[in-house]
Amino acid sequence: MFNSKTFSYCITFLFFLYPALTGAQNTELRFVGWKPEAPQVWDQAVTDFERQNPGIKIVREIGPHSSTQFHDLLTQKLKNRDTQLDVFFMDVIWPAEFASAGWALPLDRYFTATEQEKFLKAPVSANRYRGQIFGVPLFVDAGLLYYRKDLLEKYSLPPPRTWPELVEAAKTMLSGERDPNLVGFSGQFKQYEGLICDMMEYILGNGGALWDEKRLVSALDQPRAVEAVRFVRDRIIGEISHRGVLTYEEPESLALFAQGRAIFHRNWPYAWAVTNDPKNSRIAGKVGMMPLPSFPGGRGVAALGGWQLGVSRFSTKPDLAWRFVAFMTSKEIQKRIALSTGRAPTRLSLYDDPEISAKVPQLKALLETFKQAVPRPTTPVYVPLSNIMQRYFSSVLALPDTDLSKRAALAARDMNRVLDLLREAPTL
Ligand code: GLC
Repeated sequence: MFNSKTFSYCITFLFFLYPALTGAQNTELRFVGWKPEAPQVWDQAVTDFERQNPGIKIVREIGPHSSTQFHDLLTQKLKNRDTQLDVFFMDVIWPAEFASAGWALPLDRYFTATEQEKFLKAPVSANRYRGQIFGVPLFVDAGLLYYRKDLLEKYSLPPPRTWPELVEAAKTMLSGERDPNLVGFSGQFKQYEGLICDMMEYILGNGGALWDEKRLVSALDQPRAVEAVRFVRDRIIGEISHRGVLTYEEPESLALFAQGRAIFHRNWPYAWAVTNDPKNSRIAGKVGMMPLPSFPGGRGVAALGGWQLGVSRFSTKPDLAWRFVAFMTSKEIQKRIALSTGRAPTRLSLYDDPEISAKVPQLKALLETFKQAVPRPTTPVYVPLSNIMQRYFSSVLALPDTDLSKRAALAARDMNRVLDLLREAPTL
């Protein structure tokens, strides 16, 4: 008989016992990221996670795309010990800072050594700080050169192997095309983190360094570094680009290339899918992609980039947060992201996945470039050092008449003040 007593048992079961027995609760997990290229893939992943974990709701906050601005938003929350934040995106350069500040939860008990071995080495190392691991790499980035295959063919020019060759080839094509809307090169030269990636590729490619990591002194005032910066200012920006690039982050520089208004373009692997999609690009099918050029006699250098998922030390639900991180960085989700956006997976086995090889063949071809890509130095004071370098690069690129060596010496002096902190506090 279904009497009122039975009814109240049912209610008790439904509201208290069932959730307790099944682990289903009405729990919110807060995730801060930036807007991905294929939002529908992310929406689907979140829906799938919620379906597999009844009672858990993922609340997403979308931050700015720029790494520098996203850092400001995220660190503000972490400084405030905001418990309304569980999982976050982390640029590959932040784990040391977040670990040393006590903001990121060490994940060793979840992200075990055996599991770490299934990932590309460099991004995993970038997530390690003082023997612990603070993030799980979601996708990897490395700087690449994109070019207009059709234009190079038209002028019977081979893809450039060195930067000076690139400048000469661009000049030949620009004078042949006589198109006032066409530039030779587009890259990321605005004052933000992307500028460090671009400039480090020239500086390291010319045999220089940002700073000496053993002696903890800036290397920006060294001749190789100064020469590389001069090359970018006088030849890349001065001869084959326009000053507009000084305001470009990835999206603007990519848009220029995709509109058919730039011959060469530096970007990360995701630009391949965008530029070959006729819905977003006027140059679909006319694009070439290759490792970045070198300087004569040297070796081309690609900056290592990429994004990780981390868990806040102030999260009140670390186990649940981990469940979400494990799901989003799983083989299945990384595969979906790779197939729909061309973002490069961090799980090694996906480079042998038949579906990925068939639909995104460029990824396997890039594996070696990812393995060779050079990380930005790991240190908890990366961001203040980056800020000094950003200001220096940005001001000298914008002002062709400045005394480069003098500015480089000033930037090096400022960097050394920050690097002194590391020398004085080796436990930082
Ligand atoms: C990409 C890279 C990241 C880098 C940023 C700079 O997002 O993955 O590591 O810092 O670009 O703009």
